[in-house]
Amino acid sequence: MLAQEERNQQVKKYICDCFCQESEELIYIRNHSAELGLQDIAVPPNVGKMLYLLARLQNPKRILEIGVLGGYSTLWLAKALAPGGELIALECDKRHAEVAKSHLERAGVVKSVEILLGSAAGLLEQMIQNQEPPFDLIFIDADKENYSLYLDFAIALSRSGTLILCDNLIPKRGEIASPDLLDNEAVCIYAFNERLAKDPRLESLPFPTIVGEKGRVDALGVSRVR
Ligand SMILES: C[S@@+](CC[C@H](N)C(=O)[O-])C[C@H]1O[C@@H](n2cnc3c(N)ncnc32)[C@H](O)[C@@H]1O
Repeated sequence: MLAQEERNQQVKKYICDCFCQESEELIYIRNHSAELGLQDIAVPPNVGKMLYLLARLQNPKRILEIGVLGGYSTLWLAKALAPGGELIALECDKRHAEVAKSHLERAGVVKSVEILLGSAAGLLEQMIQNQEPPFDLIFIDADKENYSLYLDFAIALSRSGTLILCDNLIPKRGEIASPDLLDNEAVCIYAFNERLAKDPRLESLPFPTIVGEKGRVDALGVSRVR
């Protein structure tokens, strides 16, 4: 391992140990998701805490999440809801949606969370057609190839001041800003970043994060709707 990676790993552990104590319910979701064989692609505790804190600053009545998996980030966000608030979460995988629902039931937040099963693009389009009231915070963490599409839908479901958070804005592999053209996910993410930087409807910055066992540098996109 490179010396820098080792240091990143130590920094991540240090931040997690000092600042990101997970509740018993969050630890259960992580462990149980692994036992069930779900992919290890939930946000790490340092990103979960960042989601929670950014959400707390919004005092959100309405949160939208795109990409649920076992409900780990959903629980961090649900804990930040204002009293009486609601979180709508979109997930296309039936098993993930069922597992997440059982985890959120166990954590005692299921009454404030609604998981909608289906492809995010279709569900978002339907929400816009139904004139869904705006969300205070929207977290995008699903298929990277569709982030640009989800961002347009997210803006349509926002008000001035809505916070839009997008995970994994630094691809896992390849040169920074110059990905292998066969790596479609990376190509889409860099194209998305360029677009995010210039979108006149938003003020944005990718906040660097340290993720994964090896201490990889990633970023969480933080955008405020003007
Ligand atoms: C990275 S995981 C989400 C992790 C979760 N946010 C967390 O940190 O705990 C991505 C999830 O998005 C879902 N997903 C992928 N493509 C989707 C789509 N087109 N519509 C809805 N969900 C999708 C996957 O099934 C998976 O559960």
